[in-house]
Amino acid sequence: MTPSIDACGAPDPDHAHRDAALAAALPADPPPERLAWIPIRSLGPAHRPRILEHLLGLPEHDRYLRFGFPATDAQIARYVDGLNFERDEVFGVFNRRLQVVALAHLAYPPDDTPGATGAEFGGSVAAHLRGRGYGSRLFEHAVLHARNRGLDTLFIHALSENTAMLRIARKAGATVERAGSESDAYLRLPPETLASHMEALVGEGAAALDYQFKQQARLVDAFLGAIAEVRGGATRTGGQANG
Ligand SMILES: CC(C)(COP(=O)(O)OP(=O)(O)OC[C@H]1O[C@@H](n2cnc3c(N)ncnc32)[C@H](O)[C@@H]1OP(=O)(O)O)[C@@H](O)C(=O)NCCC(=O)NCCS
Repeated sequence: MTPSIDACGAPDPDHAHRDAALAAALPADPPPERLAWIPIRSLGPAHRPRILEHLLGLPEHDRYLRFGFPATDAQIARYVDGLNFERDEVFGVFNRRLQVVALAHLAYPPDDTPGATGAEFGGSVAAHLRGRGYGSRLFEHAVLHARNRGLDTLFIHALSENTAMLRIARKAGATVERAGSESDAYLRLPPETLASHMEALVGEGAAALDYQFKQQARLVDAFLGAIAEVRGGATRTGGQANG
């Protein structure tokens, strides 16, 4: 009998041929839709609860990829409490329910660090929205903001298994240095220009508008919900009164 797998684990040609034919015949999952524009907002201390909610929603392996260890809820809460919004920048993408579905932390060097010219990027995207370009857009946004602060390098520390993060960094032109299970990526930033400042301003303005629309939509939803509840209550009371 011919074994279907050879000693090295490679499939034999007949099976490979049949598998390829089968794969071609089956409907493939469509790739996730990549959005043309993603509104990214700068976050402040008032957003701590939403930031926390997003990070606590990451499953254990994502926490490991994001923080370099499988952070517990308590460790994440301490991280969120310790975010320094005056020195660093934190960005987020909100969904229609105003939950943070993608988050980036751009950490700047403390003012008293002599000669420091680099910022560090860390980010995460809600698991159900991966592969749509959120991670890449957060990274581009961070690049723009770090440039506009006059820094010349963006640094990413990632686990070597973190293909998606390292792909984002490499595509942006970063040099990746692998040291076993961990990798460091360095992206040289071009100098700030008037255009880069304009781009950041326009992006912020558009994201603020998007946020306002979502806030208003939520208010309208709540208002319609309240009316429906009052009507439902009136119908029930009317029914009882008539019964
Ligand atoms: C890393 C992370 C932020 C990427 O977010 P994302 O929204 O899925 O990223 P994008 O959709 O922009 O995809 C980036 C690239 O990686 C690729 N990619 C996405 N997931 C991948 C995977 N599991 N394996 C290989 N490539 C992957 C995409 O195809 C895309 O490449 P392309 O532009 O050539 O098509 C997200 O996976 C995440 O939150 N991971 C957990 C936390 C983490 O690892 N954070 C980074 C530590 S700093």
